[in-house]
Amino acid sequence: MPLSIIVAMSENNVIGCGGELPWHISEDLQRFKKLTMGHYLVMGRKTWDSIGRPLPGRTSIVITRDAGYMAKGALVAEDLDDALELSQEDKEVFVVGGAQIYALALPRASRLYMTRVHIVAEGDTYFPELNWGDWSLVQDKGVVTTSDQGLEYSFLVYERELTWSPEASEGSRGAPGAR
Ligand SMILES: NC(=O)c1ccc[n+]([C@@H]2O[C@H](COP(=O)([O-])OP(=O)(O)OC[C@H]3O[C@@H](n4cnc5c(N)ncnc54)[C@H](OP(=O)(O)O)[C@@H]3O)[C@@H](O)[C@H]2O)c1
Repeated sequence: MPLSIIVAMSENNVIGCGGELPWHISEDLQRFKKLTMGHYLVMGRKTWDSIGRPLPGRTSIVITRDAGYMAKGALVAEDLDDALELSQEDKEVFVVGGAQIYALALPRASRLYMTRVHIVAEGDTYFPELNWGDWSLVQDKGVVTTSDQGLEYSFLVYERELTWSPEASEGSRGAPGAR
């Protein structure tokens, strides 16, 4: 199944600050809801803690190393492979953060929904480095919108071809991923 990443990041790739999002952009939350509705969401335990509840209409999977972890209203996975097994019925699985889980998922993702927030933000959590040469911008309405809070942002979609997929490498848990 295709694995997609969805993220909002500043010009300097900040995604989080003090365990929270560094901004509030209601249009971005609406886009997130629209894109992810009905799908599985894969997230790290810290992002789960930050959201604080299962998001309606979606199935949350929380990745943690804590074997006894309970997440009310969500599934718990011990790693990304486990999460992908749990969500294999979905036609598009969304990795929703945070930085640690984006880093795990990036080698396997073929689509990246990005909200670029046009600020240089202060924060403590950054989107991982990625090789932009692998990715093509497939959707950019060329629009810079100003949010109700006065923040400028753009919705972008990137894609890339994967030569590796979990299905194709059955039995190779922990395989290095794309290319
Ligand atoms: N801007 C955005 O779009 C966006 C989206 C999501 C999150 N965020 C922000 O990002 C920040 C949180 O990100 P984060 O990187 O600190 O945390 P995170 O990725 O949400 O969660 C980290 C946790 O995931 C578990 N984990 C990580 N690697 C693992 C592995 N290989 N195997 C098993 N479990 C693993 C561990 O949980 P245990 O400690 O329980 O073992 C780890 O502490 C917050 O500020 C949040 O608001 C921003």
